[in-house]
Amino acid sequence: MSPVRHLLRDDDFTPEEQAIILGLANRLAADHTIGATALRGTAIGLFFEQRSLRTRVSSEVACSWLGAHPVSLRGEEIHLDRGETLEDTARVVAAYFGLLLARVHDHDTLTSLSMPGVLPIVNGLSDQFHPLQAFADLLTLQQLWGNLKGRTLAYVGDGNNVAASLLLAGVMAGMRVAVASPPSCQIGEKTVATANRLAKVSGGEIFLTDDSSAAASGADALYTDVWISMGQENEKDKRSQALAPYCLDSRLLAAAAQDAWVLHCLPAHRGKEITAEVLDGPQSVVFQQARNRLPATAAVFWFLLAPEIAAGLVHEGS
Ligand code: CP
Ligand code: NVA
Repeated sequence: MSPVRHLLRDDDFTPEEQAIILGLANRLAADHTIGATALRGTAIGLFFEQRSLRTRVSSEVACSWLGAHPVSLRGEEIHLDRGETLEDTARVVAAYFGLLLARVHDHDTLTSLSMPGVLPIVNGLSDQFHPLQAFADLLTLQQLWGNLKGRTLAYVGDGNNVAASLLLAGVMAGMRVAVASPPSCQIGEKTVATANRLAKVSGGEIFLTDDSSAAASGADALYTDVWISMGQENEKDKRSQALAPYCLDSRLLAAAAQDAWVLHCLPAHRGKEITAEVLDGPQSVVFQQARNRLPATAAVFWFLLAPEIAAGLVHEGS
């Protein structure tokens, strides 16, 4: 039996595995019926401590694409707030589910759930990382460009969970990732150190700055996310003030390559982190990104539960 693998952060997979998952996602995006019986007879748990539109719905539909049965759980429905431990909860649901996706406030919750040999845990967003989103983002760019290596992706705004995953996943794929954030909202040092290590292996590059124009200059894609992530509502004023100069607007877009694409993980706030003109403009691919959450998630589930079959399908299709 293969060991139990988890996807808590983007570097839980190797560059080769990332390429397999992206290849599989690309095949599923073109024809999702290729997975119709892949996970037949498997139930997949979808645990949400926080709200979600894209992640929850695309995960449920991804299960149906693969012939698996989704079971949605809200934090308040189970016994965690009455003293049942995360470890006991994981051991119990391992008897029912082949895999558990969890969206949590605190990344440590995922670490506690992901015990060796119990059941695969997939991060559906934590305060630190959002790896399923990054898979959909890279899939989108791969569909648009054909190849990711050597392209420049500039992220402008809060160095949050989405930014951290994009940095790790982007450099792992051999991209040049530029990140512009104010000093108070930068990606954590440990994540940057990991990204530097990944870049050495992949040939990717990192450019960190507090100057949004310097990051955007000549970029092949621009990306932003909300200034106030879930759980940070009490920092609204401070964050809005620090991030106001980092709005993705037409001036910033003009600094990028002429054919640059615009990405946002959504939900978006027009007039805050991005202008309506840019979000709804011809260079925006945000709804393609949202659509790609489905094949990207299906590919991750398939890879974690049947890695040899998933890899075989990608090699056969290439
Ligand atoms: N982008 C994203 O994860 O959206 P949801 O919060 O709606 O799942
Ligand atoms: N950074 C945002 C992403 C939402 C999909 C948050 O954590 O709320």
